[in-house]
Amino acid sequence: MSLKDKIDIKKLPSHVAIIMDGNGRWAVHRGKDRNYGHQKGVDAVKEIIEKSAELGIKYLTLYAFSTENWNRPWEEVEALMELMINSLNNETTKLVNNNIVLKVIGDIDRLSVGVRKSLDYTLKQTSKCDGMTLVVALSYSSRWEMMKAVRDISYKIKEGRIDPANIDDKIFENYLTTKGIPDPELLIRTSGELRISNFLLWQIAYSELYFTETLWPDFGKEELYKALVEYQKRERRFGKTSEQVHEKGN
Ligand code: IPE
Ligand code: IPE
Ligand code: MG
Repeated sequence: MSLKDKIDIKKLPSHVAIIMDGNGRWAVHRGKDRNYGHQKGVDAVKEIIEKSAELGIKYLTLYAFSTENWNRPWEEVEALMELMINSLNNETTKLVNNNIVLKVIGDIDRLSVGVRKSLDYTLKQTSKCDGMTLVVALSYSSRWEMMKAVRDISYKIKEGRIDPANIDDKIFENYLTTKGIPDPELLIRTSGELRISNFLLWQIAYSELYFTETLWPDFGKEELYKALVEYQKRERRFGKTSEQVHEKGN
């Protein structure tokens, strides 16, 4: 039985989020420069998008560039941005053909005009698609997102449009960049690092975490299937007891 056959399609997570890590190490292990690893990382991105959509996953969020990544050497940041522009330009038609709608979360104002132009084009082209939603976290960090939400809510309070007494999870979520997107049931991080690196801190409150030593350029469809099989073995209790979870109707 193949790994893919072991996946229960009826119990697929509707949202999978991935911290794609390890491109630099993958390249350095091969005596190449880090940017070569980023290029190879794009091939893994393409495969995972295609296979996720094929399985029927509704939302796939990929952490592509964090606000902290702006602190990398300028040549690496430039190479990553160039790669982003080329990938968007080359893949837009395929995204549309696969009925995938693109969304971007992050501090977009920090991106260059070139990146924003390519993004706008792909966002527009895919806007009528209604298959899988591909969320790219670009110039994103969770603390940036939450601070922005707090500021935006504060302005509304000042204008008298929100009563602080009414603020609850739902209202707060409406001010996050992920508004309207369900929380990920599964968060994957590659490359053996056991940390979250400022990613979706609010949204992963109850996500199942899956860590693998595999470096991102080596993360292919079999690795994705393995993570999904592992996810389906977990018991999600949400604070209840195991007995409660197994009671009828739960
Ligand atoms: C992930 O790979 C890609 C980005 C963060 C943009 P890294 O570039 O972090 O690779 P390592 O962690 O240095 O190996
Ligand atoms: C996290 O990877 C960000 C992305 C995958 C885009 P990093 O490689 O930047 O994470 P840290 O800094 O090592 O935690
Ligand atoms: Mg890294």
